[in-house]
Amino acid sequence: MTATLIDGKAIAATLRADVAAAVTARTAAGHRAPCLAVVLVGDDPASAVYVRSKARACAEAGLRGLEHRLPATTTETDLLALVDALNTNDSVDGILVQLPLPPQCRADAVIARIDPAKDVDGFHPLNAGRLAAGLPGLVPCTPLGCLRLLTRTLGGIAGAEALVIGRSTIVGRPMASLLINESATVTIAHSRSRDLPALTARADIVIAAVGRPEMIRGPWLKPGATVIDVGINRVASGDGHKLVGDVAFAEAMEVAGAVTPVPGGVGPMTIACLLENTLTAATARAA
Ligand code: GUN
Repeated sequence: MTATLIDGKAIAATLRADVAAAVTARTAAGHRAPCLAVVLVGDDPASAVYVRSKARACAEAGLRGLEHRLPATTTETDLLALVDALNTNDSVDGILVQLPLPPQCRADAVIARIDPAKDVDGFHPLNAGRLAAGLPGLVPCTPLGCLRLLTRTLGGIAGAEALVIGRSTIVGRPMASLLINESATVTIAHSRSRDLPALTARADIVIAAVGRPEMIRGPWLKPGATVIDVGINRVASGDGHKLVGDVAFAEAMEVAGAVTPVPGGVGPMTIACLLENTLTAATARAA
């Protein structure tokens, strides 16, 4: 059996087009375009690439993107002052502080300072708590993107056995909450879980977010399962390198019903959901 490929790039393009249409309708009704402020501290090359692609996606969807680049030596006090200024700036709808931060800036303190109504990453403890409580709020972009891929692929997921592998605050935990809120039966596994093959064997849905290249093997999967691979791991290949997920992709394609590729699966959905969250924040703030 060969699984269906879940085309995250195409599904993300549809979502971005939906956001762009909603932005056009809002501006036609006299609202200003939603505005996302992205803060980048230091010169981590991977972060610079992410920030650039976020800015480009904003522009393509008709959103305003503001970029604040600060030197790697920025103090936490100065970073908090910028967050305060963006919080009180009425023309800013969404604030994203790119992680990781340099060691002198505590990510927890910075995230907690962001106005929860502008927290388009969904990382603020208030939004994390609202999600865990099943209340509406801004939801982290990567798990939201995974949920969108699942509902596109499967329709409803109520009653399905879902296994989330990874317990991070950015992906694993919010993913589990989203799945519970959709009435799936949810198991969270992690690096200390005892028998991962036994857990995957009963899962209709597997979300892999462990950050270990090709750790989840094809024969572990339940035949016909839907596999969402959040991992992006750079591994040596020939003279250069390649990107692989947390799932052994070719093996999974032999057993699963549908699988996301890496790259081109979850990654494009994360940015599309960031645009969606910025629109959501702007709409809620204008109401
Ligand atoms: N660094 C890597 N991924 C993310 C993300 O989703 N949000 C933020 N703020 N930083 C990141």
